[in-house]
Amino acid sequence: MKHFIDISDYSNDVIKALIMSAHQLKKDNYRGKELNNKTVGLIFEKPSLRTRVSFEMAIHHLGGHCITLQQDEIQLGKRESIDDVATVLSRYIDMVMIRTFEHNYITQFAKRASISVINGLTDLSHPCQALADALTIYEHFNRLEDIKVTYLGDDNNVSRSLAEVCLATGMICTISSPKQSNKPLTGVHYEADPKQAIEQADVIYTDTWVSMGAKTDESLLDQLQPYQLNETLLQSAPKTAIIMHCLPAHRDEEITDAVLTGPQSKVFDQAENRYHAQKALLVFLSHL
Ligand code: CP
Ligand code: NVA
Repeated sequence: MKHFIDISDYSNDVIKALIMSAHQLKKDNYRGKELNNKTVGLIFEKPSLRTRVSFEMAIHHLGGHCITLQQDEIQLGKRESIDDVATVLSRYIDMVMIRTFEHNYITQFAKRASISVINGLTDLSHPCQALADALTIYEHFNRLEDIKVTYLGDDNNVSRSLAEVCLATGMICTISSPKQSNKPLTGVHYEADPKQAIEQADVIYTDTWVSMGAKTDESLLDQLQPYQLNETLLQSAPKTAIIMHCLPAHRDEEITDAVLTGPQSKVFDQAENRYHAQKALLVFLSHL
């Protein structure tokens, strides 16, 4: 296995080891030479702040060089076939991260590439985010086993990878969404009532109601209103629960400003942890 496409592609032990390694690298403020004389490509077919900057910094701090390619540059599958892009890039660079639309663009790319491919978000999943999320939860609770994580709102790429990291690490995941999941995961709890879903939660997580590249569905937005993470809803949760959001946030849509920036919020630790988690991932992949 040389790629990192989904959390569920790896054994629970590998995922737990990655999270622990990220925790250690963060404590050590680690700088290394794992990517010395290596080049990592970062392909973005959607916008990014955190993923781009945290990857660039992690690559730099491991002695590597990166080439960032933005939306209009490669146009995977449009200007050139995915197979040809994968073959050509494999001749130039040592590793590639891709943020794109359809998940099968990445799996197809990975099949053809002879270099490691990292999923930097697709319409289906966001595994790098999930590693950082688990690190953030671990830092707060000093364990992952039995931590109750409730995801509220649009059941999307972020909730999918969050659920997968919960399954891998012994956390108990509940998804509370008006949408019926089209790909339910075995072992994940689905609870449509948001109050009930957060009653026992240690972690309450939400994300945008309209993901990048998705069409705005007004009727879904109406159905999502009761899932807004606001101070009233939060009264149904334990006071000790932490608030998470992968960012970017849409204040006063899926979450209110007061909750996003309130005392229970861990969202900026979570954003910082993208860097530490990806540094651990890059070290791991560099040894394969
Ligand atoms: N959370 C996250 O992936 O942020 P960006 O879209 O800014 O990379
Ligand atoms: N679900 C969001 C996550 C952004 C980091 C999206 O795909 O746009």
